[in-house]
Amino acid sequence: MSEEAIRKVAVLGAGTMGHGIAQVSAAAGHQVVIRDIDEAALERGLAGIGKSLDKLLAKERIDATEAERIRGAIATTTSLEDAVKDADVVVEAIPERMDLKVETFRALGEHAPAHALLATNTSSLSVTEIAAASGAPDRVVGLHFFNPVPVMKLLEIVRGLGTSDATIARARAYGDAIGKESVVVRDWPGFATSRLGIILGCEAIRMVEQGVASPADIDKAMKLGYRHPMGPLELTDLVGLDVRLHIMEHLFRELGEQFRPPALLRQMVRAGKLGRKAGEGFYVY
Ligand code: 3HC
Repeated sequence: MSEEAIRKVAVLGAGTMGHGIAQVSAAAGHQVVIRDIDEAALERGLAGIGKSLDKLLAKERIDATEAERIRGAIATTTSLEDAVKDADVVVEAIPERMDLKVETFRALGEHAPAHALLATNTSSLSVTEIAAASGAPDRVVGLHFFNPVPVMKLLEIVRGLGTSDATIARARAYGDAIGKESVVVRDWPGFATSRLGIILGCEAIRMVEQGVASPADIDKAMKLGYRHPMGPLELTDLVGLDVRLHIMEHLFRELGEQFRPPALLRQMVRAGKLGRKAGEGFYVY
């Protein structure tokens, strides 16, 4: 399998991560199809790609011809079967629910070609459990991307219990092709990145609860004192408070007390203060 060229990439899910993955795959010269469950979601995804390409155009990172080529390389569909039937790589970026992932990988086992690399962009769920549903766990790998996908250099490759060496090699080759730097980690709750990233966000929220400092000062402290590009609360707003709460709940169950979600986070999610996408989180946009 490792010798197979990657021509076509199918991305399942047109959300923030899915459309970013589609964009970087198309930019690397792959033919891309994005699948989501309705046309409105696909349109939002294409609009997101349009915005990102406009930024790259404004910075003269790409020219108009290249932007058009990237747009032209991305097709959309609502049919999972059509999306994956001739794919060389499938990247799943659907919501972080194990029941949905299991259903999707069961379908991939049935409809994706036997040579296809089957990847999940889960940020913390068990790759091994997702892989088991496909019936071909050797071909399944975690490919964890970071937001904003066109900007962040890292690709965290997660090796499930049954992931083969050939699959890891192929995942690395895909990562190289799309211009990412890879690290390979063992399948363990939260992997390397979410486990550390979430604990920082979790503590920052507890500090707001305890009145240690304002969100702006906590963020300023980490940016100027630790050179983080963004403070932990700004980052929580970027990723989405609901997304972070969900990951925390999972890591709390799997790894214990240190990941117990702060009450303030639950309250803010209940109030709809989900971060940038909702116009308000720890900051107002
Ligand atoms: N597409 C293309 N280019 C983009 C972009 C996008 N969506 N978003 C930003 N950019 C470009 C900008 O044009 C700019 O280009 P330049 O360097 O040529 O000027 C550059 O990226 C920096 O952007 P800005 O000048 O607008 O703003 P900043 O300098 O503040 O950078 C940031 C923004 C890149 C988001 C930076 O603050 C950052 O790196 N923040 C940390 C992000 C992070 O930690 N992400 C990981 C989240 S966790 C995750 O994703 C895991 C998941 O499982 C939850």
